[in-house]
Amino acid sequence: MAVLEHLTSQQAIDLENKYGAHNYHPLPVVLSKGEGVYVWDVEGRKYYDFLSAYSAVNQGHCHPKIVGAMVEQAKTLTLTSRAFYNDMLGKYEKYVTETFGFDKLLPMNTGAEAVETALKVCRRWAYQKKGIPENQAKVIVCENNFHGRTTTIISFSNDEVARENYGPYTEGFVKIEYDNLTALENALKSNPHVAGFLVEPIQGEAGVYVPSEGYLKEARALCEKYNVLFIADEVQTGIARTGKMLAVDHESVKPDILILGKALSGGVYPVSGVLANDDIMEVITPGSHGSTFGGNPVAAAVSTAALEVIKEENLAQNAEELGELFREELNKFIPSCDLVVKVRGKGLLNAIVINDTEESSTAWDICIALKENGLLAKPTHGNIIRFAPPLVMDREQLLDCVSIIVKTLNEFTK
Ligand SMILES: Cc1ncc(COP(=O)(O)O)c(C=O)c1O
Repeated sequence: MAVLEHLTSQQAIDLENKYGAHNYHPLPVVLSKGEGVYVWDVEGRKYYDFLSAYSAVNQGHCHPKIVGAMVEQAKTLTLTSRAFYNDMLGKYEKYVTETFGFDKLLPMNTGAEAVETALKVCRRWAYQKKGIPENQAKVIVCENNFHGRTTTIISFSNDEVARENYGPYTEGFVKIEYDNLTALENALKSNPHVAGFLVEPIQGEAGVYVPSEGYLKEARALCEKYNVLFIADEVQTGIARTGKMLAVDHESVKPDILILGKALSGGVYPVSGVLANDDIMEVITPGSHGSTFGGNPVAAAVSTAALEVIKEENLAQNAEELGELFREELNKFIPSCDLVVKVRGKGLLNAIVINDTEESSTAWDICIALKENGLLAKPTHGNIIRFAPPLVMDREQLLDCVSIIVKTLNEFTK
């Protein structure tokens, strides 16, 4: 078989199974093309994408402006490393910091790397600015968090599948219940060496858990009271996904450290970053952190275009409006359907909870049925399906998707 020979879906699946590590369990669909809210499989079947590569493709597949920026930059200069300056990075850093209202950006590539970076910045700040004794700093995290897959990050996960046999784990984390301010204050009170509180403004992977109104604002205030950095992981919730540029904007909260990834590039290229003001970011000095690819010229060009698209096309507002419509339409249907307990979410980050156990395969089976009906979604648990389409969707398309979902759930009940 020639390397670039056209493959059937089954051939492509067989190749991945044989030659790739089995670290994912994909839905059996092989995609070969994407445009806007649609993707196509190798047999030419068209689907609505209701996952958006875990909220990386907020701007829609292959957005011409973002792809154009990438192609242009790729023809000029792709990588210099940070051993030298390049003519794109400074302009990009200015644009990103002005967009989000911080003094400095530390550019990285993937979400997990950006989380690692934020933790390092936080620990350094704790030793150099807060005066915590060496190696004593603690970071408070939440149960059922998802912040990525590195050894340190899985050290404070409570997903046993993600952790099993990867020890020894990194120390220095205190886990508390999500959406529980008393637990946060107790943890802050009982430990003098807390450096930061790392939180997802909505827990995406856990099943789209939206915290109680006021939680983020209060948590932020508690952090201020105890001189602890409030670190918002907006890798999944950021860049207009929840109906505002950032999910913390719903409560007018300004984090001390902001972590971005995924849609920072519109899913075109791995781009992530950590934002903070000078009093925090100045703890980072030459040689103390870095990445060969972080802040490369292509990333800078792509990410600038990706953020411009969000603003020019009013995608936050579109997400807000279509999200309302989506939940409203599903809420009309749910009372008549024994299979679905509820729909929850914010903007276009939503999930339905299925009337079955977390260990069941019902959500997976429903996703297979949705695929047959032309819509791709993925369970986050055995009984939760996340619905997160590209934010460039229009009202008519959204209603079409609602009717596919309702039809599928109705068929499934029978
Ligand atoms: C909140 C959050 N943080 C971090 C990550 C990790 O990002 P990446 O997969 O790019 O490493 C994810 C990925 O889903 C995420 O949802």
